[in-house]
Amino acid sequence: PTRPTPADRFSFGLWTVGWRAADPFGEATRPALDPVEAVHRLAELGAWGVTFHDDDLIPFGSGDTARAEHLARFRAALDETGLTTPMVTTNLFSQPVFKDGAFTSNDRSVRRYALRKTLRNVDLAAELGARTFVMWGGREGSETDAAKDFRAAFDRYREGVDTVAGYVKERGYDLRLALEPKPNEPRGDILLPTIGHALGFIAELEHGDIVGLNPEVGHEQMANLDFVHGIAQALWAGKLFHIDLNGQKGPRFDQDMVFGHGDLLSAFFLVDLLEHAGYDGPRHFDYKPSRTEDGTGVWESAAANMRTYLLLKERAAAYRADPEVREAMRAAGLDELREPTLAPGETVADLLADRSAFEDFDTTKAGERGYGFVRLAQLASEHLMGAR
Ligand code: GCO
Ligand code: MN
Ligand code: MN
Ligand code: MN
Repeated sequence: PTRPTPADRFSFGLWTVGWRAADPFGEATRPALDPVEAVHRLAELGAWGVTFHDDDLIPFGSGDTARAEHLARFRAALDETGLTTPMVTTNLFSQPVFKDGAFTSNDRSVRRYALRKTLRNVDLAAELGARTFVMWGGREGSETDAAKDFRAAFDRYREGVDTVAGYVKERGYDLRLALEPKPNEPRGDILLPTIGHALGFIAELEHGDIVGLNPEVGHEQMANLDFVHGIAQALWAGKLFHIDLNGQKGPRFDQDMVFGHGDLLSAFFLVDLLEHAGYDGPRHFDYKPSRTEDGTGVWESAAANMRTYLLLKERAAAYRADPEVREAMRAAGLDELREPTLAPGETVADLLADRSAFEDFDTTKAGERGYGFVRLAQLASEHLMGAR
């Protein structure tokens, strides 16, 4: 069960396996990877999809002829392997023109250029049959609070996203936009830093119905937040359109490690949540093979992401099927939380009249209840360790 197949819906960004591992302190340690080779290698490993930024596939500044050639080679590789392109995204962060952001740059001409670059890429996404268009606003933000009128920045951010979403609708594309939160890096502070901020922003959009989220494990953990809680809220809001799986060791720079190589217990509960909730979107890995790895290590790390997901899926299923776990869940009140707090048809007046709810309620006794969550946590750990 740990051999991935396309039915598992695993996808990878071209920029992940293709990362040449240049960092702020050192040069690239690996040669460039041809996107065509990436497609073939990913398909051989059992992946289902490949995703990309426009500039990953078509080098920035390419003319129309070169663009068409790059696309033709890529499409041929997709046809040969059967790999899909479930998601496409736009690079609005690498070029100096975007140093103060794209949709929220103080420079209006940069904002207009960013919109054109994005709309052109939306057309490409639709042509390739992608269903999700990710928007990671990595440069939307600042190093100093003096840099912007931030309320105006939110107006422009909304204008930008609504313009793109409106265009998708006008063209009748079967495409939804997914915003990707991140607290910082490359900007000192990025706008829409967390899942919660992004959900609040979407609620203010005109076309918010086709705008959702692409949360990344490491990004919430950089902000010291519980990723499982965030994903649960995104699912609850009907906004989990896509997900970036990877590994991160708490609040520090963005590590983009292999899925499970950061907080493994959180990864276990995440997979349990996704599988239990019936999430049917892509399982997308947005990781970076460490700078220490050579070509062999790159493909080993790609395979490791999928293998870890499948192992966690297996372990989570065993956890839920374990009779002792079921009993511990009941004792802990997990079923009880699914029961509405008011009875069917009960009014606030009824609640106010219910003496057992307040006047006669024994708070001392209720306060003495042990919930047994530690027992459950230990059972989960033991399943995760393969000890049960
Ligand atoms: C990061 C981000 C990016 C985006 C990607 C999509 O690690 O900082 O996750 O990798 O996901 O660029 O636009
Ligand atoms: Mn990241
Ligand atoms: Mn990401
Ligand atoms: Mn990333």
